[in-house]
Amino acid sequence: MTPNKDSAGRRIQELTRLINRYNHLYYQDHISEVSDFEFDKLLQELSTLENAFPELKLPQSPTQRVGGSITKSFNTVKHDFPMLSLSNTYSDEDLNDFNERIQKDVVGTYEFVSELKFDGVAISLVYENGILTQAITRGDGEQGDEVTSNIKTIKTIPLELNKSDTNIPSRLVVRGEVFMPKAEFERINAEILQDNQERERLGKKSNNLLANPRNAASGTLKNQDASAVAKRRLDCYIYDVLAEELPFQNHAQALAALRLWGFQVSNHYQLCPSLEDVKNYIKLWEHQRFDLPLDTDGIVIKINDYTQRKDLGFTAKSPRWAIAYKYKAESVRTTLLSVNFQVGRTGKITPVANLKPILLAGTTVKRATLHNANEIARLGVEIGDTVFLEKGGEIIPKITAVDSHSPRGGKPLDFPSVCPECHTELQRREGEVDFFCPNDRSCPPQLIGQIEHFVHRKALNIESLGGKTIETFFKQGFIKNVADLYELKTEQILSLDGFKEQSTKNILEGIANSRKQPFSKVLFALGIRFVGESVAEKLAIYFGNLDNLRAATLESLVEVPEIGERIAQSLIDYFQTPENAAILERLIGHGLNFTHTQTVMQKVGDALGGKTYLVTGSFEGHSREDMDRIVRENGGKLASGVSAKLDVLVVGDKAGASKLKKAEQLGVRMMSAQEFWALIKP
Ligand code: IVH
Repeated sequence: MTPNKDSAGRRIQELTRLINRYNHLYYQDHISEVSDFEFDKLLQELSTLENAFPELKLPQSPTQRVGGSITKSFNTVKHDFPMLSLSNTYSDEDLNDFNERIQKDVVGTYEFVSELKFDGVAISLVYENGILTQAITRGDGEQGDEVTSNIKTIKTIPLELNKSDTNIPSRLVVRGEVFMPKAEFERINAEILQDNQERERLGKKSNNLLANPRNAASGTLKNQDASAVAKRRLDCYIYDVLAEELPFQNHAQALAALRLWGFQVSNHYQLCPSLEDVKNYIKLWEHQRFDLPLDTDGIVIKINDYTQRKDLGFTAKSPRWAIAYKYKAESVRTTLLSVNFQVGRTGKITPVANLKPILLAGTTVKRATLHNANEIARLGVEIGDTVFLEKGGEIIPKITAVDSHSPRGGKPLDFPSVCPECHTELQRREGEVDFFCPNDRSCPPQLIGQIEHFVHRKALNIESLGGKTIETFFKQGFIKNVADLYELKTEQILSLDGFKEQSTKNILEGIANSRKQPFSKVLFALGIRFVGESVAEKLAIYFGNLDNLRAATLESLVEVPEIGERIAQSLIDYFQTPENAAILERLIGHGLNFTHTQTVMQKVGDALGGKTYLVTGSFEGHSREDMDRIVRENGGKLASGVSAKLDVLVVGDKAGASKLKKAEQLGVRMMSAQEFWALIKP
């Protein structure tokens, strides 16, 4: 039943307020007043109502937390109050100078507030009548980019303020730092690494890892797709408030009010009646800061009293009443003991330095990456050298320079010519800096990598088998390839330390259940070079089963839409290799699914009458694979791109402009989603 507009409006208001409140309680006070299920239900209800009555959607609607909007280019917006920076200090003497300048200009006593200096991206938020209306980056200090929809995905930034305090100025500007928590940074990098393994196997270019949390936060904020921003969980601390008139006498009061209004204010600020207290605060956090969930690069020291701030005033770029104390990027010296050449899951060789253990930025460092042969040459480093060590972005330790060579003469650091694991001669692909071991049939880390790929979530999704377990089973000789997984025995696993009845049962059940996975996933899981998820799906649909695929010639393979010669040749090579054929036979024997059994290619109709179709953009409720399947089921042929041979381009949401333009130039017929559905479901 669709509600009338009045009742929908009331319910939308009620749900918006309620969900925003639950959100605040959950993300800032860590209290769950409702179950996840209940919460999702409310959000779903709101989203349904908003879809039915888009004009009633409120600007503070929590449905924006998940993103959804695409910004072509960010608007440039002028700041109400310029965004200044702070002058930096590095020593006790600098701090004494700062204190003396204040003493000269301020009458009577004064207090400082010391805060942590969060290492992220400065943001300015505008609230009108308690509702977040604009989020602007620093830019040049006078004007910045408006990134409001991205900022709305940050759960600790209130979309509407807690209005129980009636003192909130009608137009309010707050300033804070958007950051990426260290754990989130590591999670994303682990994901990129895993994805790169697959990309490398497919011969695709790897994606770069995020360099450090600050760059990651900055890059994410500038992403044009707010849904992508929502997936990277940024966070924000607020540390300043500005308005035409403020109801406070000092900064401590302002921080307390900000918290009351619903902002996340760090707990670690401290009122410091003397410079000595400030110095103690600096000492306290010098090492403790490494235990925080985010990066900090120093301390900010501010005069507490607003009248005194006014008396002190500003220089051209920064306030005279505040200063930043920056901790030195810690650099330590240690000895390079040896270098291991690690073979990655895809055969890539990485030199890793073994160091005399040393404390650096809160952790004991024993190893550091040397990246590749070029880096070793650049540093001119030898075994036995004393080297300088720093944490790049304070996360990954790195050797920055050689301090001195060993007095006894160093040992030159030669890059190996053969794989340290399997002794196959290494190769370097043209234009690449990394060396690779080409022996993907018996090089142990590569075999482990192949098994990991096989069980991956996007392949056979055997969740009960983690990387560590696979490695243990491999080292025990239980598994050498993916077919061995299906011959694992309960007693074997139970004989290992740490494996109990229940975990053993889970592992074997997980493996057994993988037999239910569709043919396309099995095909992808095999790890055939250049056969990614979507190619596997296309092949499964086109050939229907393994026998047809195995029998296909190069010519018939390239006839499949989107299969080029490179993929076709890789498939032929794979099936012709006797070791692969043997593994396939065993997998068939173990009951894996080698037939495409979905509703696919059951011809539903002939509405598309043998014409060639290409689907572009997104279609609500249907993946691209779904759409391709629907075209084929209804008698259409699929094209791989826009060309004169294409009969119809079906255009969904957010379709790429270049395809549309080309289709227009070639006079290809374009069809909207509605027309398409009407055609096949008359
Ligand atoms: S107060 C007038 N407090 O450091 C500037 N800034 O160069 C008032 N920052 O752009 C800034 N943590 O992005 C302040 N607790 C903190 C801070 C902080 C980090 C950043 C901010 C600013 C830069 C100063």
